[in-house]
Amino acid sequence: MTEVQTDVTAAELDELVKTVSAAERAEVLHVVESAKDTIFTWDYGQSRVPLIKLYEKAKTGQWNASTDVDWSIEVDVERQAATGPNIWMLQDLTGTPLENFNEADHLKLSITAQNWLLSQFMHGEQGALICTSQIVETVPWIDAKYYAATQVMDEARHVEVFARYLQEKLGGIMPVNLHLRALLDGIVSDSRWDMTYLGMQIMVEGLALAAFGFIRQTTEEPLLKDILKYVMADEARHVAFGVLSLKEVYTDMTAAELRERQEFAYEAAMLMRNRFSMQEVWEHLDLPVREMCEMVLANPMQAEFRKMLFSKIVPNLKKLGLLTGWLRDRFAELGVLQFEDWADTGEEYEVMQFDTPATAAS
Ligand SMILES: [Fe+2]
Ligand SMILES: [Fe+2]
Repeated sequence: MTEVQTDVTAAELDELVKTVSAAERAEVLHVVESAKDTIFTWDYGQSRVPLIKLYEKAKTGQWNASTDVDWSIEVDVERQAATGPNIWMLQDLTGTPLENFNEADHLKLSITAQNWLLSQFMHGEQGALICTSQIVETVPWIDAKYYAATQVMDEARHVEVFARYLQEKLGGIMPVNLHLRALLDGIVSDSRWDMTYLGMQIMVEGLALAAFGFIRQTTEEPLLKDILKYVMADEARHVAFGVLSLKEVYTDMTAAELRERQEFAYEAAMLMRNRFSMQEVWEHLDLPVREMCEMVLANPMQAEFRKMLFSKIVPNLKKLGLLTGWLRDRFAELGVLQFEDWADTGEEYEVMQFDTPATAAS
């Protein structure tokens, strides 16, 4: 068996292998307390030109998940799973729980893993729906309230489109990953409005944008490719909104306040990186969760995938002035500073102008 080498300690692994309990899984509702101030503004003057432009773009970039997406496309789940990247290709499976896996077992694992990944995206989209509705309430600028209102609609559509794809084409939804839920709970319960932006618009959406781009490039399934094209056009705008808004807020913050933002970003990064190890897949397939999580962490293809997920986050944090000092050292340890000079989403958005129904559908 390949020696398992990860930078995760035994204590971190104890934490990492946890999943939502059976009782929680049976619950339909999940309640999170939050103590945010709701802010009215009597200043209706629009002064933030980039936000006004984004708002105009958002209004004309609306698409309809019911009519713009071709739901008649048949999805061959087995073929899709069989042709996807095989992450175990470079790993010796002798002595591992997968040692006696035959082709059918591997296929079942791939199908479950795909269902899990898209389910987590869908749960994350619901987090975005809730966060942007909070931003409408809490942001003090009228320009940002207008724009955030369009994003609430975008995110509702994203939840709708993933839920429909999972239920109609993949045969069902998998439960939320405990660590993703912890991240979303932390973001929605924080009372500081800029943390909603940082957690959702920069960290979660930045990661989603990178992951969607990767999946869109690697999948051959036409319906999923199409869905991701539409969703990504919206997501690029969302991340750009976060960068533009936070840049203005951070200009006036003290070093101590900025350090709190850096720590928040790092904690979010850790929740999304190591702790996101397909725990529910192993549980569903009755495989030993701890051993399988260790295998995922040691898997070279997964390690590269985890780094790639930071390709949008790192340049955006740099643009915001947060990629300095303490956070820079932490990200160097994670091996993700290679992305720091990549285009930030504000710049990239300018060249991603394919987000109108007419052009997106072409
Ligand atoms: Fe979204
Ligand atoms: Fe979004």
